[in-house]
Amino acid sequence: MVPSPRGEVEPFRVMQILGKAQQREDALLLCVGQPRAGAPGPVLAAASEALVGASLGYTATLGLPELRAAIARWHAHTYGTPTRAEQVVVTTGSSGGFVAAFLALLSPGDAVALARPGYPAYRNTLHALGAEVVELDCGPETRYQPTVEHLEACGRELKMVIVTSPDNPTGTIIDPAELQRIARWCERRDVVLLSDEIYHGISYGQTTATARQFSPEAITVGSMSKFFCMTGWRLGWLIMPEHLVETFDNLQANLALCPPAIAQHAALAAFTPDSLSELRSHVREYAETRDYLTAELPKLGLGSFAPPDGGFYLWVDVSHLTDDSEAWAADLLEETGVAVAPGKDFDTTSGHKFIRISFCISLEQARQAVVRLAEWLG
Ligand SMILES: Cc1ncc(COP(=O)(O)O)c(C=O)c1O
Repeated sequence: MVPSPRGEVEPFRVMQILGKAQQREDALLLCVGQPRAGAPGPVLAAASEALVGASLGYTATLGLPELRAAIARWHAHTYGTPTRAEQVVVTTGSSGGFVAAFLALLSPGDAVALARPGYPAYRNTLHALGAEVVELDCGPETRYQPTVEHLEACGRELKMVIVTSPDNPTGTIIDPAELQRIARWCERRDVVLLSDEIYHGISYGQTTATARQFSPEAITVGSMSKFFCMTGWRLGWLIMPEHLVETFDNLQANLALCPPAIAQHAALAAFTPDSLSELRSHVREYAETRDYLTAELPKLGLGSFAPPDGGFYLWVDVSHLTDDSEAWAADLLEETGVAVAPGKDFDTTSGHKFIRISFCISLEQARQAVVRLAEWLG
C-alpha cells in the first residue's frame, strides 16, 4: 500500500532533533517552542476537581459555553474589541482550528498567501488539503512580516491570507498600522484574513494588535499552548463572524466531536488573576533570557537575527558558518548536546542558512548553552 501524494508532507525537523536530543541526559533544548513551566496552579487545581466532580463526557461541540464566554471576555478586555461568546469556537489546539478553518473556507486549488519564513504546518496542512500555497518572500526589510505590497506583487487571486504575529520562527511583531492595511485590503477583496495570534501575551514592549480591531471579517486564532503554558492540553480557539459558526460547529462535530473535556474545565481557571500573575512572571523570565542571549550571541559571531519582539524565538543567520544548517545543527547536538532547530522547516528556499533558537528555557540553561557554543565555535 502506498500513501496518497497529498499525505506526503515534509517532516517536522524540529521534532526529529527533539527526539534525538531527548536521548541525551545533558541535552539543552533550544529547539522546541514549549514553555518550560507547566500550567498555572489554579488550572491544575481545577483539573483535579474536574477529575472527580465533572462527567468528562463529550462537551458541546463548540466548547463549554462558560469557556467560550471566558475567551470572549479575555479578548474583549485585552483589545477593547466587542466579542460575543457566540463568535468563539474552542478547538483541539490551534492546530485543530487551522484544519477546521481551511476546510470551512477553502476549496481545492484556492490560493493562500503566507510569509516565508513561516510556521511549516500551515504550508503542509494546506498541501494535504489540496490548497495552493503562495509564499511571500519576507526579509529583514519588513521585519520578516508580509505587507500589502507583498500581496499586490504576488499577482495571484487569493482566497486567504495568513498573518502570524508574534511570529514563529522570527519573533517579530507586525506593525499594527500594516496589519490594519492588510485587514482593509482583504476586506475589500473578500479575501479571508486568518490572523495567528497564538503568541499574544508574550511580548517585550511592542504592541500586539488583533486583526479583529481592524476588520469584523477577520478570523483570529488563539491557543492555550504558549502564554498559558498548556501545550499538551490541546486547546485553542477561533474568533470569527457569527454567521460562520454553524459551519464550524458541523465540521468540528465530524472532525473531533468536541475539544478535550478535562482541558476545557481546567482552562476556565486560566483567566483568573492568580493564574495570570503566574503566567506573567514566566514572560518576565523569557525577557531575561532573551536579553541575555541577544547580548551574548553576537559575541560568538551569531549576531544576525530578527528583532525578537515577542514569542520566544531567535531566527539566526548562520550562513557565514555553514551552507547546510540541518547538518550543522546535527553536529552541534552530537558534539555539545545543544539542540537548535534547522531553518529548513520554516523556509524551504533559504532555511539552510538559518537556525531557530527557542529561549523559553531557564536563564541558567541559556548560560550553559552559550558556554558550550563558545567552546564549539572556538
Ligand atoms: C505560529 C504557530 N501557530 C500554531 C501553532 C500550533 O500550536 P497549538 O496547536 O499547540 O496551539 C504553533 C506551534 O508551535 C505555532 O508556532
